Amino acid sequence: MKPKFFKNRYILARAKIAFAILLKGRVSFRKILNAAHCWFAQKFHFVKAAPFPFMINFELWNECNAQCTFCRTDDGVIYDQNPENKGQVPIPKGKMSLELYKEIIEQSKDHILIAVLYVNGEPLMYKGLYEAIQFASDRGVATLISTNGELLTENNIKKLLESGLDFVKIAISGFSQDIYTVQHRGCHIEKIKDNLETLARLRDLGQHKILTMLDYVYYQYNSHEYQSALDFGQRLGFMVSRRPGNLFKLSEEHPELAQHEKPQEAPKHLPVKNLCDWPWKVMTVDWNGNIYPCCDYVVWNNQEPNATFEVGKSNVKDIWNGPAVIENRTVHLTKGRGGYDICSECTRTGTAFKF
Ligand SMILES: C[S@@+](CC[C@H](N)C(=O)[O-])C[C@H]1O[C@@H](n2cnc3c(N)ncnc32)[C@H](O)[C@@H]1O
Ligand code: SF4
Ligand code: SF4
Repeated sequence: MKPKFFKNRYILARAKIAFAILLKGRVSFRKILNAAHCWFAQKFHFVKAAPFPFMINFELWNECNAQCTFCRTDDGVIYDQNPENKGQVPIPKGKMSLELYKEIIEQSKDHILIAVLYVNGEPLMYKGLYEAIQFASDRGVATLISTNGELLTENNIKKLLESGLDFVKIAISGFSQDIYTVQHRGCHIEKIKDNLETLARLRDLGQHKILTMLDYVYYQYNSHEYQSALDFGQRLGFMVSRRPGNLFKLSEEHPELAQHEKPQEAPKHLPVKNLCDWPWKVMTVDWNGNIYPCCDYVVWNNQEPNATFEVGKSNVKDIWNGPAVIENRTVHLTKGRGGYDICSECTRTGTAFKF
C-alpha cells in the first residue's frame, strides 16, 4: 500500500538553482569535482569524504518574528526536539559573528557549490545578512535563503538583489490571515503578499537573475487556500512548491484542526535502511560555531558537535574529515540510523531544503 503522506524533493528547484548558478559563473570544475567526490564517497561507503562539503548551512541567528506553532512558543522559546529533555530545555539563542562566517567562506570558497544562510530563525532579522551575501557573491559562492517574508520591505529587497542573492524561498501556511496565523502567529499574510508583489516588480525591473519560490506549507486545514497561493505565485513568476506541514504541537494548540490531519510518516515507512546523505555532503554551523552533521542538531539540545570552529585557529578541511566526522560516518555505515537517537526516527532522505 502506498504511504498517504507526500514528500517534496524540490527536484525542479534544484535543477533550476544548478543551472542559474552555472550561468552566473559560480560553478567551477573544481567545485563539481568536489561535489562528485561527496556523492561517490557516500554511494560507495567511504568514511573519508571529499576535501570539503558541497554545501554549508549557516545559522546566522535563531531569532524570529513569526513564532510558528510547530517551531517555538508564542513568546519565541524554541522547542527542544530531544525527547530526553521532555521539552523543558529551551534552545539557546544567539548570533553568529560575521568574522566567523567570513572565515569559513574564505576557506571553502573554491570548493563549495552553495552557502545556505539560514537554519532555524529568520534570516532577514540578521543585520549582517546583506554583507554576508555580498561577501559570498564576491568570492563566487552562490547563496540561498528561506524567509517568512514579513521583513521583505522594498529597501530590504533592494539590498538582497544588489548583494547578488541567487535564490529566495518564501514559506507561507495559508492565504487568509485566520488560516495563516494558525502557524505563523506573528506575521501578516496581506503584508507578505504586498512584499512579494514588490519583490517580483524589482526583480523584473532590474532584470535580476534571482530565483524566487513560494513554498506553501500544506495541511488539511489550509488545503482549500493552496490554489489561491498557486495562482498568486505563478502570476508573479515564482516557482510554487508545497511541503508537508509539521504537526508538532498542533494537537495541543488547535485540537479541532489536528484531528483532520493525516500522520506524515508511519513508522514502517521510516527510511531505516537508507544511508543518510548529510554526513558526507553538507556541513551545518550553528550561531556559536558548532559544526554538526545536519540541521536537525540545532534544535536538539545536548548533542556533541563534531567540532567548534574558532576564528584564526580552525580549518574547515581538517574538521570535515577529522576524527569526529569520521566517527559519525562510521556509525552511520555500521549501525544505520539506529546509531544515534536523533537519527533513529529521522524521515529525511536527500539533502534538499531540510529546514
Ligand atoms: C525553520 S524555517 C527558517 C527560515 C525562515 N524562518 C522560514 O520560515 O522560511 C525553515 C523552513 O521551515 C519550513 N517551515 C515553515 N513552517 C513550517 C511548518 N509549519 N511545517 C513544516 N515546515 C515549515 C519552511 O519551508 C522553511 O524553509
Ligand atoms: S519556521 Fe521559520 S518563520 Fe516559523 S518560527 Fe520557525 S524560524 Fe520563524
Ligand atoms: S538526523 Fe536525519 S538527516 Fe540528520 S544526520 Fe541523522 S539521519 Fe541524517
